[in-house]
Amino acid sequence: MKITKAVIPAAGLGTRVLPASKAVPKEMLNIVDKPAIQYLVEECAAAGITDILIVTNRGKGVIEDHFDYAFELEANLRKDPSKAALLESVRKAADLANIYYVRQKETKGLGHAILAAERFVGNEPFAILYGDDIILTDPGKKPVIGQLMDAYEAYGKCVCGVQECSEAQVMKYCTLDVTPLADRIYDVHRIIEKPAKEQIFSHFSILGRNIVTPDVFDRIRHTPPSEKTGEIYFSEALSGFAEEGRLAAVDFEGKRFDMGSKLGIMQANCEAALRHPEIGADFKAYLKDLVKTLN
Ligand code: UTP
Repeated sequence: MKITKAVIPAAGLGTRVLPASKAVPKEMLNIVDKPAIQYLVEECAAAGITDILIVTNRGKGVIEDHFDYAFELEANLRKDPSKAALLESVRKAADLANIYYVRQKETKGLGHAILAAERFVGNEPFAILYGDDIILTDPGKKPVIGQLMDAYEAYGKCVCGVQECSEAQVMKYCTLDVTPLADRIYDVHRIIEKPAKEQIFSHFSILGRNIVTPDVFDRIRHTPPSEKTGEIYFSEALSGFAEEGRLAAVDFEGKRFDMGSKLGIMQANCEAALRHPEIGADFKAYLKDLVKTLN
């Protein structure tokens, strides 16, 4: 079945990037000239996804404003022909996909946020993109969610996007027990969320992209909240698919940035600035100069 729907959970508290995320959701923090969440919506649209549900909470109304028409602003830009490109960029954000919203009424973890998508999803497989995981791909490369969709079509299994991470990151995210299936594709047998050092199977961690079937909702409902944090971990629900031989991992081609961390925000901005057609060359020259002043 063709995948046309995606869910973007964006209802977290963003505590690691406070105070920046106090009044502006971290998913709306800027990467050069677009908010982070627009990169996700563009990734979906480039992969042929037409309908996107964003899971929000209180204070995230600016996300809705961003993907809406801005009548007054557009009317002003339209008066000045030299601002045609700006007008187009403002319109484009609103026309990328059909975007829907639902609120996660309590912040009880990623798994709990995904549950809020059940009615939107209906009976179809769907994509999940974590709202703070931005992945840039090189020109000509498939968007990462498209790479996962290809694996879903080829193997008929649920799919998670992975990359090898440092030991410290694996202990913060999760570890996957895998065996090779094809080039850059693995069968997943087990997943442990936030493993202790001695529990690490591999350095592959899930980095913000998944394709799942709607039975995931029952799995989430049967996943107990973590005793430590009270959150429902999505990777534990995914682990059920893995134990039944129904989960593949794609070692995706793309560079991932964690917009939920201060360093990730800076890295995303530097990379996107270097790739930017308008400021890329100047920013590169600036960086080269800056490097000369560093010890
Ligand atoms: P994170 O765990 O990275 O986000 O969730 P967080 O909870 O905002 O992080 P900190 O620890 O407070 O800094 C990954 C994605 O899942 C969403 C977040 O918005 C983020 O995009 N999320 C997380 C929800 O939608 N609901 C939740 O209850 C938790």
